[in-house]
Amino acid sequence: MKSIFYSRFFILLPWVLIVIIVMDIDTKRSSVRSTAGSYLARLGDAQRRGEKPAHAAPSAANRTVLPPPPPPPLIYAVTPTYSRAVQKAELTRLANTFRQVPRFHWVVVEDAGARTELVARFLARCGVPYTHLNALTPRRFKRTGMPRATEQRNAALGWLRTHRDTREPGVVFFADDDNTYSLELFEEMRSTRGVSVWPVGLVGGRRYERPVVENGKVVGWYTGWRADRPFAIDMAGFAVNLQVILANPRALFKRRGAKPGMQESDFLKQITKLEELEPKARNCTQVLVWHTRTEKVNLGNEPKRHQDSVMIEV
Ligand code: UGA
Ligand code: MN
Repeated sequence: MKSIFYSRFFILLPWVLIVIIVMDIDTKRSSVRSTAGSYLARLGDAQRRGEKPAHAAPSAANRTVLPPPPPPPLIYAVTPTYSRAVQKAELTRLANTFRQVPRFHWVVVEDAGARTELVARFLARCGVPYTHLNALTPRRFKRTGMPRATEQRNAALGWLRTHRDTREPGVVFFADDDNTYSLELFEEMRSTRGVSVWPVGLVGGRRYERPVVENGKVVGWYTGWRADRPFAIDMAGFAVNLQVILANPRALFKRRGAKPGMQESDFLKQITKLEELEPKARNCTQVLVWHTRTEKVNLGNEPKRHQDSVMIEV
């Protein structure tokens, strides 16, 4: 019995040793590869920055593996929305776009005293990462001629300031629920370091409005309406780095003295200067977002009495 055991043992032993040696060689090779890889990556970085490499050859002691690069910034799209016949249709159109944008967070702020079932149910099933907030516009501000969505955008800024910190890379964009957004727009804005700007289609009584760019800098505005505004731009025409929002905790949309069409300018004045703006979309020569407006629906034939026998959410 013992002799069978020993004979099997000695037959297997050389094979086990061969496997161990092969595995050992392999791990050594991969550690050399990762050291060389990280060295080359750093060398590339240094050359891009125009520096000389710190040392010419990787030393045996240098086995540091650099951490992976940080993830691209998360885009926070802030959407004020209010209850009306077309609300769910608008949100559906937006979700169909936003679902396709990587690293995206939708901050939906209802203009309501409480979050509604309709929006809560919609968001839970829409396939876009989201935060659902609400802020009611006081009745005295719900009049024609008054700026819209001030309280809702400020609620979103408040949420960002309490739930996000200075280590998180992010870009904040104000995405009204009735506009039309291309996917390219989000990749353009993702590299925003301070405040970035681009053209907006179908706005200001023109086919488009745009920042005028000379030598890579914004020098003025091509606009159909009040070109004397410090920042003659629609809400859909700019994005702000999250760190700028956090570094300027008092920057808010204003009610006091605010006129419609001045909200963007009044807000941007608090956080940036014309010469600091970063032009996107090929130096502001491409329209990637449209200020579409949904026609008021005709509900003239809705029955006053004899409603349908089932309740259907629209
Ligand atoms: C223009 C700008 O594009 C808006 O960003 C700006 O807020 C608005 O003017 C203004 O006058 O303050 P416009 O198409 O006229 O836009 O405005 P809406 O699209 O009707 O409203 C802007 C956003 O506020 C939408 O997301 C809408 O759902 C929301 N909203 C509107 C509310 O939350 N409550 C309201 O009572 C009305
Ligand atoms: Mn609109």
